[in-house]
Amino acid sequence: MRVAIGSDHAGYLLKETLKAGLIDAGVALDDAGTTGDASVDYPDYAEAVARLVVSGACDRGILICGTGIGMAMAANKVDGIRAAAAGDLESARLCREHNDANVLTLGARLTPPDLAMAIVRLFLETPFAGGRHQRRVDKIMALQGSHADVPR
Ligand code: RB5
Repeated sequence: MRVAIGSDHAGYLLKETLKAGLIDAGVALDDAGTTGDASVDYPDYAEAVARLVVSGACDRGILICGTGIGMAMAANKVDGIRAAAAGDLESARLCREHNDANVLTLGARLTPPDLAMAIVRLFLETPFAGGRHQRRVDKIMALQGSHADVPR
């Protein structure tokens, strides 16, 4: 499995920690940045990782910001992405089994490194359950491009 990983400045240290654990586990990584703790804009890294996933260059993506929320919002704007913000093990498992999430987002300000690593492992090793969940995922994907009149 090849994994794209990216973060903003708030997620940089956790990204480096997770990278070390993933490399130890033999996972192939594409690091889309950022490369330090200088302030950057998380949507830029969400887009880079999302494009690596939808292009097929990588099988899954991992994105880290302060909360995991901005990264999920941004990544989910890219067609083909199903990004899940998961701060606990059950969410990590179910976002794969039920939602076939292809991107995991984490909050470095909320999730300690050991738990984050366990969440990442579960996210990578859990298969999609298919069956009734496939129909629901198909309905999610059918929403793409359906621009309802959303109040701003
Ligand atoms: C950066 O300060 C912070 O806003 C960002 O990392 C993220 O938490 C946004 O969702």
